Amino acid sequence: MSMKITGISGSPNARGNNERIIELALSIAEEKGYETDKILLSKLKILPCTDCGTCRTAKECPIDDDMTDIYEKLETSDAFIVTSPVFFGSMSAQLKALFDRTILLRRNGFLLKGKVGGAIAVGGSRNGGQEFTINAIHSWMHIHGMLVAGDMAHFGGIAVKPVESDEVGLKTVKDTVNMICETLARFK
Ligand SMILES: Cc1cc2nc3c(=O)[nH]c(=O)nc-3n(C[C@H](O)[C@H](O)[C@H](O)COP(=O)(O)O)c2cc1C
Repeated sequence: MSMKITGISGSPNARGNNERIIELALSIAEEKGYETDKILLSKLKILPCTDCGTCRTAKECPIDDDMTDIYEKLETSDAFIVTSPVFFGSMSAQLKALFDRTILLRRNGFLLKGKVGGAIAVGGSRNGGQEFTINAIHSWMHIHGMLVAGDMAHFGGIAVKPVESDEVGLKTVKDTVNMICETLARFK
């Protein structure tokens, strides 16, 4: 059975820099024979976790929104490539809302444990907080017990908009996808 890599874009902009980057990242994975899937937060509505505690005793979240389908996508993925715009030096609120809601999967058997994850951040400035943003995404991965991949040299994909003309940034994105695929290949 082929392994599935899911791209998650935390940008509210449809066809923005993050979505274009996730497209590129997934096309590289597809060329290598991986199945891919996408979660684009520009198209989905995910409310923040309210710490109601329901998921402590049942694999259930009382918030009725697009997260229901996402749980299934996350559980059935072998790896994630997560990209976020840098908003005030960290990830977007849209992505943070998704991350917080995944506590349900952690409380019900660490269902994301052992999956592979890599991160990308896109900013409007060269040094706008991409590394910190990647670090925050990596924290989500570590707290789920995932295996975190960088770009073989540093932390992940670090890009400045418009991403198409950021050659250095595009290389870190490609290297991050390659690192995720190489890590997955060890489990084949
Ligand atoms: C509320 C807000 C805060 C932002 N803060 C930062 C920042 O701290 N550092 C930075 O480099 N860019 C910042 N930007 C620019 C965005 O990171 C940039 O427009 C985004 O990565 C573009 O991605 P997209 O085209 O996928 O939306 C900010 C943009 C917004 C709307």
